[in-house]
Amino acid sequence: MHFPLLRRKQSLWTNFSVVVLLGLSLVACGSSGGTASASIHGSCVPGSNTKEVPLTSAHKVAWSQNALDGAWRYAEEASIESQATAGGYQLLKTNANDSDDQQVQDIENLINDRPDVLLVDPYTEDAEAKTILDARKACIPVIIVDRDVNESLATPGRDFVTFVGSDFQKQGVMAADALIEALGGPTTKATIVELTGTTGSSPAILRGGGFDGELATAAPGIKIVAEQTANFDRATGQSVMATLIQQYPNIKGVFAQNDEMGIGAITALKAAGKKPGQDIQVVSIDGTKDAINLVLAGEEYAVVSSNPRLGPLVFQALNDYIKGQDLPAWIVQPDHVYKKSDGTAQAYLPDAF
Ligand code: AHR
Repeated sequence: MHFPLLRRKQSLWTNFSVVVLLGLSLVACGSSGGTASASIHGSCVPGSNTKEVPLTSAHKVAWSQNALDGAWRYAEEASIESQATAGGYQLLKTNANDSDDQQVQDIENLINDRPDVLLVDPYTEDAEAKTILDARKACIPVIIVDRDVNESLATPGRDFVTFVGSDFQKQGVMAADALIEALGGPTTKATIVELTGTTGSSPAILRGGGFDGELATAAPGIKIVAEQTANFDRATGQSVMATLIQQYPNIKGVFAQNDEMGIGAITALKAAGKKPGQDIQVVSIDGTKDAINLVLAGEEYAVVSSNPRLGPLVFQALNDYIKGQDLPAWIVQPDHVYKKSDGTAQAYLPDAF
């Protein structure tokens, strides 16, 4: 996965070609303002399809965040910042404000700043994939953080170093199992609604797939009567739920693909005269303080965690990569289910964000 410079024996002609290409590489890196990358990125040739960009040291780290709009994202941002500070790195930060167009522009700008390594948390799976290939062609190694890109468009171990993040599909399965339990078990007959996240984002795709698949096999009598996006946003979750509860007044459950939408949904259910936790069971994903407090108040049945404190794993991966270690395609952040009934929500509360 990680090739030292000129490892193989080469003919005189091949060596000559490499020397010429390295010369061009130095010129290209120099002309874009970064001489350091020419030495720390070894055999990478700008403009080529170099398989994995080698890295022998790093100081300047670029970080492309897709949005800063809720407790989860602020906790993730703080984790990246504190690990960068602890490691003595210079951190160049951007915030795409929930926009693919903005994030594509941000990443292209960061590439022009010639960082030693680029960290990207993509808004959606497809839109940012080309910029990952652009970074590789500019000899800048990329670590994908939290949300994945479409791996048929950009591949770990070739186009980027690794993906560091949670198993969103498993989170969806855990959420389904918790909601099935809340509604009375696998033989229950009931209808529910699902509030989905940002369309085209990896958590929305994978949490939805995990939840829907598990529900269909483990409790086929529980039917999803509506699936609607609320863009991982609290206010949108509230307004979408306000409409859905008028259309489907007899639902017994709500699965919100993140806590923000779940909290918004609980507000809307209460405004509609429902008693969340009694006549309607709610399950969501993240592990925010606000949602855990709703679990402890008995208004939400369970929260599946999605740990946003990814900084330690990301910077460990960067250090390992610099040392030349082989990295897996995916470094998984483990998650858990928190409920009131078994004391896990109370125990987790001090760590909630
Ligand atoms: O990508 C992680 C998800 O994005 C979190 O569940 C959510 O709160 C955020 O918007």
